[in-house]
Amino acid sequence: MKLLENFGDPNAGQVKEHKFWKTQPVIQDGSTEIKEGPIDPPKTPADVRQEPYALPAGFEWSTVDVKNEGQMNELHTLLSENYVEDDEAMFRFRYSKEFLLWALTAPGYHADWHIGVRVQKTGKLVGFISGIKVELRAYSHTWDSGEVNYLCVHKKLRSKRLAPVLIKEVTRRINLTNIWQAIYTAGIVIPTPFSTCRYYHRNLNPAKLVDIGFSSLPRGSSIARLVRNYAMPTTTSVPGFREMRKEDVPQVGNLLRRYLSRFPIAQTFSTDEDIEHWFLSGQGRDVDGKRVEQVVWAYVVEDPTTKEITDMVSFYSLPSTIMQHPKYDLLNVAYMFYYASDAIFSAGASSDDETKLKSKLERRLNELTRDMLTVAQAAGFDVMNALTLLDNNMFISEQKFGPGDGYLNYYLYNWAMPPIDGGMDTTSSREGSGVGVVML
Ligand SMILES: CC(C)(COP(=O)(O)OP(=O)(O)OC[C@H]1O[C@@H](n2cnc3c(N)ncnc32)[C@H](O)[C@@H]1OP(=O)(O)O)[C@@H](O)C(=O)NCCC(=O)NCCS
Repeated sequence: MKLLENFGDPNAGQVKEHKFWKTQPVIQDGSTEIKEGPIDPPKTPADVRQEPYALPAGFEWSTVDVKNEGQMNELHTLLSENYVEDDEAMFRFRYSKEFLLWALTAPGYHADWHIGVRVQKTGKLVGFISGIKVELRAYSHTWDSGEVNYLCVHKKLRSKRLAPVLIKEVTRRINLTNIWQAIYTAGIVIPTPFSTCRYYHRNLNPAKLVDIGFSSLPRGSSIARLVRNYAMPTTTSVPGFREMRKEDVPQVGNLLRRYLSRFPIAQTFSTDEDIEHWFLSGQGRDVDGKRVEQVVWAYVVEDPTTKEITDMVSFYSLPSTIMQHPKYDLLNVAYMFYYASDAIFSAGASSDDETKLKSKLERRLNELTRDMLTVAQAAGFDVMNALTLLDNNMFISEQKFGPGDGYLNYYLYNWAMPPIDGGMDTTSSREGSGVGVVML
């Protein structure tokens, strides 16, 4: 299957100099014997440069107010026309405005971390980078971190070293709030990933995916056969599986925090406000009995007897523009987001029970993913994407996800630590990964 995300480093295998990244507090060459901690000596906000970095003549900084409709329209246009494409220029991410608002206004966000670059004369928005604040735990250390995303430079302004200026400026603004670490992901390899995950794709609409060249028709097969192979039931099957509601927030929070504590790196979701934002605020609204503007789908399992929440699953909607296709211009893609299950926490379990608990979790995750695929197919998604992170390897093969040709590298700024398993090599053995952070 083809990949939706950009990816593959054109320079893979070559030694690159990394003029910019070699000057930054990041691990310069991977090694497994890394002492954990910040790379730069400790600083305070007073040590930070107080004025913005200089842009090339003719450009100016401009904070993008994502709550202002006009400015959100400009950001949406910039990203829709210039953001990540696959290597063959067939697909380009098309984040919706609702999605960007959801992703950029998480609890504790700083409006001035939504950084635009405009052409001075015309005011046209031609560059962007963003940060939000998230709390992360890596091994036993927990800190407030920037989560940097949506780095984009207009196609006509590429290779002019604007990206390093954007990265330095977002770093400066984050540092001014006394935060010294950041997490970011990229398809390209730069110094130095702490983890790499692989993309997998679960076909939900075979006729369309074959038509647009996203997947190919296996020799001797037919569309009808693929349709049968990938058809989901019309209803979900786990008893008590239902959409998440506001009153579930405290229980979902406790369950997710406990589940994620098993991973060497994870987002902490330390407040219920985080849970409500990430799983409910993007659920859209009902208009004439129809849900519109939904960006996140979150479901829980409520035990029919005890009424307790035993599991939660979620996915988000991130379509891609299909470029230059006579019939279709949009691919409706769902991406697996966070989930949690108490199947791994049976009461009084000893380490002897570990294998049993793992197979119980594996069974449960397969049931939950099946229901999630059922919901996603009924909602009109063409494909469900998943990385090899979390415990996804436990269900990827059984739920008929196929390997993509894309990889996602995870990076930390100003934090050294031993690498973490991104699950790439353990899909067939159904072993979970060490990565408990999903980025949008
Ligand atoms: C990513 C993008 C902003 C880079 O801009 P560019 O004009 O190609 O590159 P520039 O000349 O400005 O800067 C090059 C430097 O930025 C670094 N860089 C490029 N892409 C990067 C990324 N995604 N993350 C971090 N650094 C990146 C390069 O490694 C290089 O530094 P180096 O010499 O130390 O290796 C631009 O290509 C773009 O908008 N692409 C489409 C959207 C996209 O891929 N965004 C990133 C998603 S992870």
